[in-house]
Amino acid sequence: MDAAGTRAYYATVAPYYDTELAARDDLPCWLALVEAWKPRHTVDCGCGTGRVAVPLAMQCAEWGGEVVGLDLSPAMLRLAHQHWRERRPDAPATALHLQMQDMRHMALGHAVDLALLVDDPLTHLARWDDLAATFRGVGEHLRPGGRLVVEASLLPPEAVGKPYPVVIRTQSSASLPDGVIRVEQERRVEAIRRRADVTYRYYRPVGGRSESEAVTAARFIAHYLDVASLKALFRLAGCRLEERWSGFRFQPLTDESSMVLCTGRKL
Ligand SMILES: C[S@@+](CC[C@H](N)C(=O)[O-])C[C@H]1O[C@@H](n2cnc3c(N)ncnc32)[C@H](O)[C@@H]1O
Repeated sequence: MDAAGTRAYYATVAPYYDTELAARDDLPCWLALVEAWKPRHTVDCGCGTGRVAVPLAMQCAEWGGEVVGLDLSPAMLRLAHQHWRERRPDAPATALHLQMQDMRHMALGHAVDLALLVDDPLTHLARWDDLAATFRGVGEHLRPGGRLVVEASLLPPEAVGKPYPVVIRTQSSASLPDGVIRVEQERRVEAIRRRADVTYRYYRPVGGRSESEAVTAARFIAHYLDVASLKALFRLAGCRLEERWSGFRFQPLTDESSMVLCTGRKL
């Protein structure tokens, strides 16, 4: 997906993003990592609404650390600024720097001790050249011994090895200030191309219990990585991939895993 497509997609879903992810419960993982490593400088690539970058900045401020959150979506960054304004009275103003940047051409002007990619910003990068540019850029910013943590989605297990497209549908609900909406997600996964055509549809209940009206819909093409590619990308960043887990709960990676959390260190 090109930058304009990514921006358009997030402009549509931004109002629902935080409530949809409210139950994800991944914050303890990121907070535990920074608590253990106490980075002075952190970059959160594809920080979105600041869902993770804001609490991280609050925590890192305790030891004088600073976080840069970068994203290319104005709609997501607008929300990140709003969340930071709400929390900022409790932390130094310099604890979080939100920047509109494309992670493929990251330029921070200083080295970092920790680079994070949370909840798979890489899914939007279709070409190997874009992935390579992102990881090379991360590597140029990481100081020796610095850490790289990447959360990426893997090909859904139910689609692995299938020569035909597999359609996966899920439903959830999200509470907004003006009521609850129903969210339908449809993924048409093409295992051979390691990609999926993903559509989110948002519905608001009206009248009787079973009736609802469509509010909006948004679509993007998701790209799936595998551990071997991630290992090669970590090498491009000058990092050794050290640990891999089945996502942010640090469970062992298996054939059934749909996410991978990789951690590595800059050599
Ligand atoms: C799935 S969201 C994750 C947001 C955030 N990390 C979180 O966990 O809530 C992916 C984010 O990556 C951003 N993104 C996608 N491609 C990007 C790029 N090339 N440069 C910077 N941000 C990008 C999107 O705008 C979006 O905010």
